[in-house]
Amino acid sequence: MFESKSGIFYIAGIGFFVLAFVSNALVPWLMYNDIPEKTVAELINPNLRYQFEDLARRYPKAFEAAYGKPPGGDAEHDAWWNEKCGDALRVGHKIYVGEGCWHCHSQFIRPVSNEEQRWGPVSRSAEYQNELQRPVLFGTRRVGPDLCREGGRRSNDWHAVHFFKPDSLSQASPMPEYPWFFDGSADRPNARGLAIMTYIQWLGSWQESYPYYEAYVESALPKPVPVKADAEAAEGEAAEGEAEEGMAEEAEAAAEATPSDVAPAAETPANEAPAAEATSAPETPAVEGAAPAEAAAEAPK
Ligand code: HEC
Repeated sequence: MFESKSGIFYIAGIGFFVLAFVSNALVPWLMYNDIPEKTVAELINPNLRYQFEDLARRYPKAFEAAYGKPPGGDAEHDAWWNEKCGDALRVGHKIYVGEGCWHCHSQFIRPVSNEEQRWGPVSRSAEYQNELQRPVLFGTRRVGPDLCREGGRRSNDWHAVHFFKPDSLSQASPMPEYPWFFDGSADRPNARGLAIMTYIQWLGSWQESYPYYEAYVESALPKPVPVKADAEAAEGEAAEGEAEEGMAEEAEAAAEATPSDVAPAAETPANEAPAAEATSAPETPAVEGAAPAEAAAEAPK
């Protein structure tokens, strides 16, 4: 058999088949294997609930027509919202599949080509282990942008107008218009429109960085939570002379904005942020007059 080249190709072919089987079937299966598949009810999170309730605020009539009125009691109220939100997600997912959105949009951020800089954190296998990823909606083409971090990035109003007439927001957009998501105008989405918007807002809502923005640059200001790491980071940045004027005020505002009744831990940054600032004050242009002086000193370099 090996006298001819075809024998070598034959063996190589089998070899590559085995390799493909291992990398495309066995390895993914082992990665998923012990992650339980989440149901729609388990996928509802506060970010998504916010967006869903926002739909009710923006389109009260359409919302009531599609889902009815929320009941009074607190516990029932919550359960009601979760249930309706789940229904909307399921329908939205069906519409996404049925309308062939996946034909133009992917839902997978690859660890190559700096995709994470454009769309957000690289996708992890666990993100696909849920009911709404059956069938998996990786997509095969990117006529439009990847959507797996789309949630929270645009307002519901934006989506409504965009679905009604993509062209009106994105010049010469090849995305089709979806008038059947509406009752005649962009401000009157119907049950389908509400559902697809809920689904789109869900995409990425499980991420810590929700919403994810393009070219998102982490703020130099000390963040309220978590406490320790940020106080240090703030000091480090201050030492580099990058602290901006008004940082003190903004840090204080941020500290004040932290709801003190949430958790005892949330109160700590309020005490620590000014402390970090106090220690770094001597070497930073935190004082008003000092900033122009430093800028002037650095300018000639
Ligand atoms: C013919 C290809 C095509 C189809 C089909 C399509 N889109 Fe798009 N989509 C695009 C393109 C191109 C853009 C970018 C230009 C724009 O914003 O309109 C886009 C943009 C978007 C955006 C805005 C992304 C952003 O933040 O800028 C969303 C959301 C979206 N599409 C959702 C959908 C949904 C949901 C469907 C199915 C109902 C769908 N698209 C069907 C091509 C398509």
